[in-house]
This record gives sequence, structure tokens and C-alpha cells, in this order.
Amino acid sequence: RGYKSTFLASELELQRSASPRAPPPPQELLFGKVFTDHMLTVEWSRSGGWGRPQIRPFQELRLHPAASALHYAVELFEGLKAFRGDDDKIRLFRPELNMERMQRSARRVCLPEFDGRELLECIRALVRLEGRWVPRDPRSSLYIRPTFIGTEPTLGVAPPGRALLFVLLCPVGPYFPGGFGPVRLLADPRHVRAWPGGAGHCKLGGNYGPCLELQEEARARGCQQVLWLHGPEQLLTEVGTMNLFVFWERPDGGLELVTPPLDGLILPGVTRQSLLELARQWGEFGVREAPLPMGSVLGALRAGRLREMFGAGTACVVCPVGEILYRDQVRGAGGVRGVWGGPGGPGGYGVWGSEGNFGGPGEVFGGP
Ligand code: COI
Repeated sequence: RGYKSTFLASELELQRSASPRAPPPPQELLFGKVFTDHMLTVEWSRSGGWGRPQIRPFQELRLHPAASALHYAVELFEGLKAFRGDDDKIRLFRPELNMERMQRSARRVCLPEFDGRELLECIRALVRLEGRWVPRDPRSSLYIRPTFIGTEPTLGVAPPGRALLFVLLCPVGPYFPGGFGPVRLLADPRHVRAWPGGAGHCKLGGNYGPCLELQEEARARGCQQVLWLHGPEQLLTEVGTMNLFVFWERPDGGLELVTPPLDGLILPGVTRQSLLELARQWGEFGVREAPLPMGSVLGALRAGRLREMFGAGTACVVCPVGEILYRDQVRGAGGVRGVWGGPGGPGGYGVWGSEGNFGGPGEVFGGP
């Protein structure tokens, strides 16, 4: 057999599970805990290229203990979702964008190229097979996790000569155990997630592991996530599991949606891109991709001009930010509210920061 520069969906092999399970009811779904009956795997080697894609019963992987994914984080992943519409049809949300991003991440860790359209066809086949796992519930969906790892069994730091691409499916509900309500973020300028010239824009597992220590500190301090700041201006970058948006009144009174630019420090989110495209189409307020220094956000909040802040990501969907814990003080609206298009959001009613937890343990505002 000759060298194969991509795998082909037309060569997909299917081995069915002998013991299919019943999906749990949607209201019991937590994020990433339940997996469907089958998974997709494709192997690659430098000498032979890509093998045949296989759908097989969900099972553990066998890896050499020296595999480069385990030692040097030669690993990347994607996250996309399949939804069941009111018409009962199952649709993937903009999967081509995930395929493109996956190729960009692969280049950064020297994992091999493949044809994204072929992977997408294989994913469609897997989702079709597992159709009964796509929840019939507007708050739930089927999360799709393509993963790509170096499996080269040597300890030298070098591009892997062997790799495995696999895809898992999880029926999911809300990402945060608290549901779709507002979250509190910890912003601690002493820590950074990514830096100019780094790999913060790639969806590499290596970007997530080193965030856990601060995320645990955030949790201990009553926050769900970390808001990663960067540089002397303490630029708001992203939240690790989601991109960040503010919706505010400019000093001249105009309304504006602002999100940090794709400067290499943040992940180019598909939800981020979709919200920007929708907001630009609506044309109802200004839309800008621009640096967001913490001082400007705090200034807008202090002046009552900050209408809303929210995160956006595939797993988290659109997630209102209720409060930020910054320099030991809680800034924000004490659990207020507002979702995209709802009260407080660009749909246009309430005001972020207009009521709630002012004073109390950690006063709102003050600070430098
Ligand atoms: C996603 O939104 O798909 C993500 O990758 C976030 C994740 C790390 C839970």
C-alpha cells in the first residue's frame, strides 16, 4: 500500500457495539461525563501515512508509555456540537471552522495534515450512527471532541513519527454545574495564560493543564473561572474555556460590543466569530475587535456605562459574567443577569453593574 496523505471517509470501517446503552435523561447531563457507544479512530505513521478510519465500540486506548503526547504534550483537540432542531433534524454548528482550526493547531505541534472535509464526513457518519444520543432538549446537545495525539514511542523531543486521531461524543447539558446563570471570574494580574509569539491561539491541551492551579484558587475563592489578563495594561484576554465580550456605552453615548482581537493571545472561537458576524449583520450597535484594558472596563463600570459582560464558547455557549474578583475586591453586579438578547444584553434592557453586591465582603470598585 502506498503512502496516504489523508484518510478517506469512503474507506470508513464500522464495528458496532454489542451492548448499546440507553442515553441518560437530558436533565441529568453534566458536561463531559457521559460518552456514547462508539468512537472514531484513525492512525498515522511517517512511513505509511494515514490508515483507514474506523468507527468502533467506545474503548480505552493502548499507548506506549513513552508516547510523545504523554511527555511533551503533543496533543490538540477541538470542540463542536450537534443539535437536534424542532424539525427533529440533527445539525452540526459550523464544523468547517473547527476543521480549519484543527489543522492550524496540528501545524504548531508538527502533527500531520489531513483533509478536513474527510474528517468531517467521518464525524457525520459517527453522529448519524449515534443519532439517538443527540438530546431532544433545547438546553442540551451532543458535544463532539476530535482529539489528535502524538504516539511516537521515543523520548527525544522531535516531531512524532506516529499519531492517532480520535473522536469522542458526549451528550451534554450546561458546562457549569450551576446551569446557564451568571458566573464570577477571578482576574489575577500575576498570572498569564499566553504571550505574544506563543501558542495561545492554538487549541492545544498544553494551554489548559497549566491553568488548573489558578482555576483551583479561583474555585476556592468562590469563582467559576479565571479571567486571564496580559501585560502592563492588564488586557482582558479570554477565560480559558470561553472568549470574552463587553457590551457598553461609549463616553459619546453610542452602544458598542467589544471583544479582544485575534492577536495570538486568545483562542479564535467559533462562537466568538459567529456572534461578531451576527452583531455586524444586525447593525444596531458598534462592533469592535480591540484591546480591552482592565482600567477601561473598570472605568466603564464605575461610570455606569458597562451594560453587560459575557463569555462565549462552544462548551459554555453564551455565559453572562455577573462579577469579577480583582485585587481582592468583587466588581460587578452581585449575580446580575443579562444574557445575550435578554435583559441587560444587546437586546437592550437592563444595566450590568446597576445593582447588587456593592459593599459587603470585598467592596465593588475602589481599587487602583
Ligand atoms: C469548547 O468550548 O469546546 C472548549 O474547548 C472548552 C473546553 C476546554 C471545555
